[in-house]
Amino acid sequence: MEKRRVTEEMLQEVLHSIDEGIHVVNTEGITIFYNPVAAALDGMAVEEVLGTHVLEAFPSLTNKTSTLMQVLQTGQPIYNQRQTYTNRYGKRIVTINSTIPLRVGGRLAGALEVSKDVTRIQELAEQVIDLRRRIRKPGRKTAASEPRLFRFEEILTRNLQMMKAIERAKRAAATRSPVLVVGETGTGKELIVQSIHSASPRRDQPFIAQNCAAIPSSLLEGILFGTVKGAFTGAEDRPGLFELADGGTLFLDEIQAMPADLQAKLLRVLEEGAVRRVGEGNARWVDVRILCATNEDPALSVEEGRLRRDLFYRIQVVRIDLPPLRERREDIPLLTSHFIQEYNRQLGKLVSGLLPAVEDMFLRYDWPGNVRELKHAIEGAMNVAEGETITPEDLPPHLLPEAKLPQPEGEDRPLREVLAEVERRMIRDTLNACGGNVRQAARRLGIPRQTLQYKLKKWGFKP
Ligand SMILES: Nc1ncnc2c1ncn2[C@@H]1O[C@H](COP(=O)(O)OP(=O)(O)OP(=O)(O)O)[C@@H](O)[C@H]1O
Ligand SMILES: [Mg+2]
Repeated sequence: MEKRRVTEEMLQEVLHSIDEGIHVVNTEGITIFYNPVAAALDGMAVEEVLGTHVLEAFPSLTNKTSTLMQVLQTGQPIYNQRQTYTNRYGKRIVTINSTIPLRVGGRLAGALEVSKDVTRIQELAEQVIDLRRRIRKPGRKTAASEPRLFRFEEILTRNLQMMKAIERAKRAAATRSPVLVVGETGTGKELIVQSIHSASPRRDQPFIAQNCAAIPSSLLEGILFGTVKGAFTGAEDRPGLFELADGGTLFLDEIQAMPADLQAKLLRVLEEGAVRRVGEGNARWVDVRILCATNEDPALSVEEGRLRRDLFYRIQVVRIDLPPLRERREDIPLLTSHFIQEYNRQLGKLVSGLLPAVEDMFLRYDWPGNVRELKHAIEGAMNVAEGETITPEDLPPHLLPEAKLPQPEGEDRPLREVLAEVERRMIRDTLNACGGNVRQAARRLGIPRQTLQYKLKKWGFKP
């Protein structure tokens, strides 16, 4: 008995300290649990709701509109439903609710509602839309402060596969077919997409980009398709990005991260050529060209159920694959000198190139962050470079050459050599883990700082 009371009290503590609203009713609809967060969201006092019937505590709700009452009637859960309402202080609140039936011993015992306050996120999303609406007015002259879209001429390459990809993209620019650009992070997907728009007949119409990752499904839906003022949702009348991009191009980045239910809706929009604002019955015709990008192998996204197969076929009418930088090393020198020129201008420097040792490192390094990583490495180096050439000391430690692990078999190598390599590798990894801090790395490695500094110097790396 005592143990049970302790558990119950602990549970109460948990439910009171959680930052989501929690509302539990019994089968009659009487509130048996209501935490302070729920009370704050609803603009009620806990005592006003606790022990009272939901419809009595919230007279504006009915058996049909109250999700708790619905779940009691159907026994079916309702997940991630967005609700917009004005609380009694006149404040507009947007929540995302999940309401689930509670069963004890197989019998319905009540219903639980969890509400997450997304008012701030919603407000930000709307501000972003309003800003974009102002910025990308069709026909409006672009302000000097506004970044210009990339063009094909600015995509530098000597690699045959890249050239072919650019050629495909150029041909696609003339059409209105959907294009899917596939490539690792930093390979230039955004460059290709922007260039397609810049070279297309739509170039004077809006270009709108939306990243599909990291936005909850219920918000992304409103952002893409728009919302209407409705009695039930209480949302504002607001066009979605489809409407704002009318006549132009809509770029959906990280398409594989779009929630499944939205993927189905997107497919319908693409097939019908019309959008319905959330909460609205009739459709609005839109003329929007869709470009998508993904940094995941789409076949894998489909196989693992993240990307709907039917949508995948619909968006990859034209597919463009960008090879990672490590598979087009001939581009490294070209891009390097391009970025050096760019940062000479920006930083007012007169750097002319790389020390041969650095050139070598650049050619051998794997560049997991691809062109973007190369660009940032050069930007960082040029901030600290003192002379006319970039030296190893100017670079972040993770660019130190990879030492290969000693081979267990194969050529016989002197023990000394193998040990030296292991040592070098350990030092490099530890330095990386310590963000290049020698004192910290030395402590971790259990050697005096002077020893570490001596070794680094011997290898030509000054911290
Ligand atoms: N071929 C290129 N020529 C010139 N600059 C390039 C090239 N490729 C990439 N860049 C530079 O690298 C940066 C990153 O490219 P981009 O934003 O297109 O990558 P991404 O493929 O969209 O990556 P992510 O998946 O991380 O969004 C660009 O801002 C651009 O400065
Ligand atoms: Mg990108």
